Order: sequence, then structure tokens, then C-alpha cells
Amino acid sequence: MKISTIGTGNMARSLGILWAEQGHEVFFGSRNSEKAQSVAEFSGHKTQGGTNDEAAAFGDVIFYSVRELPSIVLSSTEVLSGKVLIDCNNQEIPEGFAFDPISESLAEKLAADVPNTHVVKAFNTMAQEVFELSPQVIREYNVSCFICGNNQQAKETVMTLAEEIGFFPVNCGSLRSARMIEGLGDFIRFMIAGMELGPYATISVNKLPEAKNQRLGGRQAGYT
Ligand SMILES: NC(=O)c1ccc[n+]([C@@H]2O[C@H](COP(=O)([O-])OP(=O)(O)OC[C@H]3O[C@@H](n4cnc5c(N)ncnc54)[C@H](OP(=O)(O)O)[C@@H]3O)[C@@H](O)[C@H]2O)c1
Repeated sequence: MKISTIGTGNMARSLGILWAEQGHEVFFGSRNSEKAQSVAEFSGHKTQGGTNDEAAAFGDVIFYSVRELPSIVLSSTEVLSGKVLIDCNNQEIPEGFAFDPISESLAEKLAADVPNTHVVKAFNTMAQEVFELSPQVIREYNVSCFICGNNQQAKETVMTLAEEIGFFPVNCGSLRSARMIEGLGDFIRFMIAGMELGPYATISVNKLPEAKNQRLGGRQAGYT
């Protein structure tokens, strides 16, 4: 698969290297072409680097790791039409972790900016440090990657990309769910930094085996 990044920071570099290790063709995009080329040199695996515009043109899947909207970052967003855009962004942490409720997610704002692009929310609930672990180790710990989007095929592509690098993909439905997933991103950063659990804290959904008998009386009709 041809995968590009917009931005060459911690997330783009990490995910770019991981996908290149899996045999994908990776192109790092930056505001500064030379910076992207030096990230590609560091990354190896035949990765390339250039401008954000070149990256947007190269990839079938674009890993979007900047908080600014594509209409500001790219000279034209036409080139993104029909492509998969992975949004890993979280909002800036407010003073004292005093997050407001999310009434419109960053992913929905992205989708409104590039309506012909298949925006998929993913990879915002684990810290960069987790990606430094090998996919094999991550797999052992059943780390969830929460994924939502309005296009089923795009979502399946991202679920496969998550699985390849060790994560357990969790289908969270339509892009509206990004409000909840970004809330999880805020929560895990609060646990990591606010409550000092450190960057290896993660959130996972686990399914337990069913109880063999309902010795507590089972679920009765009531609140859901
Ligand atoms: N780091 C984590 O552990 C982590 C985990 C989950 C989610 N996230 C989220 O993922 C996103 C990226 O995080 P990150 O840690 O990769 O950040 P980062 O290291 O600061 O990288 C972001 C990159 O975006 C580009 N950029 C910055 N400001 C820009 C602007 N005004 N216009 C265009 N490009 C700009 C820069 O790339 P160039 O200089 O190459 O243009 C920069 O290297 C954030 O929203 C963050 O909340 C981060």
C-alpha cells in the first residue's frame, strides 16, 4: 500500500517506520522538504520524504498528524479525493486537564474540510512510547485501537493497518463516534500525565467469558 504522512513529528515518524517495516511504501510529508528527507533517511526501508503536497499526492492512505486543517496545510485538497485520511489528532491539553465536553470532534471538522475524503479516526489513544514496543509485544497485551469512520472499506483498511503493527482494532461505528474516541484520548493523557501512570498506560476493551450461572439474579429490567 502507498502510505503518506502529513507532518514528520513523533506520530508520523513512528507509524511511518512501522508500516514501512511491514512492506508498505511510505512517503513523509512536511512543511520543510529537507526535514522530511532526513526523517526518511533515519527511517530507512526505502521511505521517501518531501513536501506535504507531494505526500498528499503520493499516498492512497494519508496519516494526518497535524492539527491544522488540510485546506490550510495543502495548496489544494482536491488531491485527497477518494483517499483514506487517518486522523490521529487530539486537542491541546488545557490547563489542569480541564477538558470541555466534545460536541464536535477534530475528525468531524477534518471531514467537513475535505468532504470527498474518507476520514477515519484511529491511533489517538496510545502514546508514542507504545509504538516503540515491537508489534509482537503489543499483541500480547491486547491493546485496543479504536477506529471509526463513515466509509466501511476505508475503516477496514485502517483496521488491517492497525492489526499489522500489533493492535486489536475495535470498530466504533460512524465518524460521530470520534467524539467519544477523542474523549478517550483526553482521558488516557490525563491518566498518563495528570495521574502520572506514564506513557505505557493504555485503554483496551476486553470481552470476558460469560458467567456460568446468574447467582446475583441476572440483569433485571431497569436503567440501560
Ligand atoms: N505523541 C503522542 O504520543 C501522541 C499520541 C496520540 C495522538 N497524538 C496526537 O497526534 C498529533 C500529532 O502528535 P505528534 O506527537 O506527532 O506531534 P509533533 O511531534 O509535534 O508532530 C506534529 C507535526 O505536525 C507538523 N506541524 C506542526 N504544526 C503545524 C502547522 N501549524 N501546520 C502544518 N504542519 C504542522 C510538524 O511537521 P513538519 O515540521 O514536518 O511540517 C510536526 O512535526 C497531535 O494532535 C497529538 O495530540 C500524539
